[in-house]
Amino acid sequence: MSGVLRVEGLSKSYRRVTALDSVSLEVRQGSITGLIGPNGSGKSTLFDCISGFQRQDSCRVLLQGEKNLLDLSDLPPVKVVRAGVRRTFQQLRVFPRLSVLDNLLTAAQAAPGFSTLAEALRWPAVRRHESKNCERAAQVLEECSLSPHAQGPASALSYGQKKLLELGMALMTNPKILLLDEPVAGVNPTLIGNLRQELLRMPKRGVTLFVVEHNLKLVFDICDWIFVLDRGRLLTAGTPADVSKDERVLEAYLGHG
Ligand SMILES: Nc1ncnc2c1ncn2[C@@H]1O[C@H](COP(=O)(O)OP(=O)(O)O)[C@@H](O)[C@H]1O
Ligand SMILES: [Mg+2]
Repeated sequence: MSGVLRVEGLSKSYRRVTALDSVSLEVRQGSITGLIGPNGSGKSTLFDCISGFQRQDSCRVLLQGEKNLLDLSDLPPVKVVRAGVRRTFQQLRVFPRLSVLDNLLTAAQAAPGFSTLAEALRWPAVRRHESKNCERAAQVLEECSLSPHAQGPASALSYGQKKLLELGMALMTNPKILLLDEPVAGVNPTLIGNLRQELLRMPKRGVTLFVVEHNLKLVFDICDWIFVLDRGRLLTAGTPADVSKDERVLEAYLGHG
């Protein structure tokens, strides 16, 4: 497949609510792909199902591995992360009392190659892994403009800086694909500018982005391709130019009828 991630026929219901109804899509390798749609259209549920936080009713989720396709459909979240799919959440998830640096190092424990047993036995490979993680953390701190705050507690960061930290934590696991759920919600315009730069750099680092975001200006600016969900179904997909001209998209946002 030319894509890095393929979802085939994903349906998910919560009791009587059909959150997703037979959604199929493919995210191209090296792209910045957007996922938009009105509130409640199923965007977060789609990310939950891909990343193993929700069990889907039926579907296949396939990831392009080094050599073959990996089926992620029934894997728990930690195995999905180790396969190379990392997500962030709509609600911030950083450890407020840990230092900014320790937040990054903790996140690295979900990276491929980490094992609790090896860690406990302090194998040389573990020490090499740790020193590599420290180097990587220094790089991520620099890239996310967080170096001056490295030793301070994460709780001292502004909301926007915490969003950057969360992005940095995701990067520590060297993902193939990052699923970002509203990365700039609640962030001030200056920091949105920083985040935008960070996001645009991802494909060059070999990280494909799949982004849910209500800031449509940003989505239409940075994405190569956009999927539109409406009431659990895929309404349309296309380039930002095509999607912005599609009247059904505007209609979905304004409400039906
Ligand atoms: N854990 C849950 N339990 C019950 N219903 C849920 C749950 N999560 C989401 N839903 C419902 O599923 C639908 C899709 O929600 P969601 O995926 O959060 O949409 P979006 O992220 O596009 O706003 C909504 O109707 C929502 O109320
Ligand atoms: Mg959501």
